[in-house]
Amino acid sequence: MVRINDHYLKLKAGYLFPEIARRVNAFAEANPEAAVIRLGIGDVTEPLPEACRTAMTQAIEDMGDRSRFKGYGPEQGYGWLREKIAAQDFQSRGCPVDASEIFISDGSKCDCGNILDILGSDNRIAVTDPVYPVYVDTNVMAGNTGDGNDRGEYDGLRYLPISAENNFTATIPSEPVDLIYLCFPNNPTGAVASREHLQAWVDYARSHGSLILFDAAYEAYITDPAIPHSIYEIPGARDCAIEFRSFSKNAGFTGTRCAFTVVPKTLTGKTIDGQIVELWGLWNRRQSTKFNGGSYIVQRGAEAVYSPAGQSQIQALIQFYLENAAIVRQQLTAAGFSVYGGVNAPYVWVKTPQGLSSWDFFDQLLQRCHVVGTPGSGFGSAGEGYFRISAFNSRANVEEAMQRITKEF
Ligand code: MLT
Repeated sequence: MVRINDHYLKLKAGYLFPEIARRVNAFAEANPEAAVIRLGIGDVTEPLPEACRTAMTQAIEDMGDRSRFKGYGPEQGYGWLREKIAAQDFQSRGCPVDASEIFISDGSKCDCGNILDILGSDNRIAVTDPVYPVYVDTNVMAGNTGDGNDRGEYDGLRYLPISAENNFTATIPSEPVDLIYLCFPNNPTGAVASREHLQAWVDYARSHGSLILFDAAYEAYITDPAIPHSIYEIPGARDCAIEFRSFSKNAGFTGTRCAFTVVPKTLTGKTIDGQIVELWGLWNRRQSTKFNGGSYIVQRGAEAVYSPAGQSQIQALIQFYLENAAIVRQQLTAAGFSVYGGVNAPYVWVKTPQGLSSWDFFDQLLQRCHVVGTPGSGFGSAGEGYFRISAFNSRANVEEAMQRITKEF
């Protein structure tokens, strides 16, 4: 009989968001009259920007014309998109990123997991606690951890607690780690990292030969001009960091699928016998073998994000969700909740009231208010007693949800 990947059996619960969906669906089935408002998963609700839709419509027309039809595209993504990303997302901020170092994909979540293909299985790995669960679960699946305990922590991972006491930015470990996951603006806490904090990580990584996996999927939500948008704004980062970016949260592409990963050509790792190898070549080989590039139509849509019209339309979208976040913050603060994040990020991180556990608050919110959020403990044991509220919803739903919550709690 076929053997399975036993590491999957170490995974603790279902993946967080399907588990939430399961509970919400059960509630909705039992209470069909309840108007449930979903502020759980960070999924966008507003329509795609017009500039993107126009470009995709044109691209569909291209596909219907023999002379403009596209078959397989480059596995790395089309040059015209990679050039625009390099110029407008990086070089305009003084980051020396070349178009050839940008790999277009169908999602940052996939890339965060896929990157493990090119890394060894004996790295010492650090994650924050709480953390975006994909970083942990993909390492479990790859066999990079031991078993999990009742708190959902896995042997072999180094957990760096983040809390209000350290502004939700991890203290740099005293011992060496090889692989470090950082996410800023942070999912789930909505915290941002100062230039000094990122510089300290880059200095640490360079002195230990570590690799930082920097998830910047929410960078577009940074409003404070002092906060870096990219790890490559930090001197030395080209020698120690891979960055993940997405069109999901800035341009509403969660259902359309487009993202990219930056792998600088200056990054290296070592083989088991100490030989130095460039990571770019490995990732290029991996993508060329296992991926056929993103869809032409979708990449044309992503390209339109960089047009003047696209830029102003995505700014309006981001502003809209940030205003939702501000409403959540204001209303919950006025009702006596302790709230964090939600200023340079679309997530508000809330202390649960009356000492409730994260899942108890989740259940009460669902039963009493018909509002869905995400239990903080689903992001790690240090998230216990917290709750994440997403600003991705219509204004009417956010206002209605806040009214219901502040009336009940
Ligand atoms: C979240 O809610 O944390 C996000 O939707 C996760 C994701 O983008 O994959």
